Amino acid sequence: MSIFRKKNKKVSAHAAINYKGKLLTDKTPFAVTESFKTLRTNLLYTTGQSNCPVYGVTSTYQNSGKSLISANLAIAFSMLEKKVLLLDADMRRPVQHRCFDLPNKKGTSELFSGLATIDEVVQRVERYPFLEIITAGNIPPNPQELLAGENAHKCFEQFKDRYDLIIVDLPPTSMVSDSVAVSAMVTGYLYVIRSGEDDTVGVKRTIDFMEQMNCRVLGTVLNGVDLKTGKYYGRKGKNYQYYRRNGDTAD
Ligand SMILES: Nc1ncnc2c1ncn2[C@@H]1O[C@H](COP(=O)(O)OP(=O)(O)O)[C@@H](O)[C@H]1O
Ligand SMILES: [Mg+2]
Repeated sequence: MSIFRKKNKKVSAHAAINYKGKLLTDKTPFAVTESFKTLRTNLLYTTGQSNCPVYGVTSTYQNSGKSLISANLAIAFSMLEKKVLLLDADMRRPVQHRCFDLPNKKGTSELFSGLATIDEVVQRVERYPFLEIITAGNIPPNPQELLAGENAHKCFEQFKDRYDLIIVDLPPTSMVSDSVAVSAMVTGYLYVIRSGEDDTVGVKRTIDFMEQMNCRVLGTVLNGVDLKTGKYYGRKGKNYQYYRRNGDTAD
């Protein structure tokens, strides 16, 4: 499956990738901030008393808004004065350094390759004191192996001593194994759908695939809904359904 939506002209609307002014601040419109607070609450309910939950954010295609949602969700959690780590694990198409205007000389790829320590890669931004960020670093030849490797496991164990909560910005699932590779370290996945762009078939196929791979999908985020009208559209005019794993409970 391609990471790009098939014959979807609208993707070009996001060709000019831009994160400026899209991070939560005290100037963000109320409805947007509230959406992230609601998402935050729902996730906390879903994972209950989990010690340092790890939320992986993924989608079927690129440009669904995974990275922006990861960043804003991490900010929303940090506003609760929880120590939050935002890990850019999309080593093929890293963006968190652009969201937060940070250097990206060393990051996840160096950490998971054993070329750098956590202290050497962690970065902070003044505006969000409870948030720490690990940018993706240099693009490695083998992201999937790095994500599933022993070093990554060890790092996640160490993260759990340092943080209350971790958000992992993942590649799209159509890069098949990259996002699934971290499943052993992820408490649950948040699955992002871009309103008006992602097709129902692609979405359903991904959710089914993730279930087969025993990935726990905690919930979906429908990104890009018109807040004034509340309208959202699927391709060919079909509305999306919300997917939930059979047997999932709220505990
Ligand atoms: N709800 C939204 N409103 C406005 N712009 C958005 C929204 N979600 C994402 N974007 C923009 O779309 C582009 C792609 O988002 P990104 O988070 O990088 O997607 P992904 O990580 O899924 O590839 C970026 O320019 C981002 O700022
Ligand atoms: Mg991304």
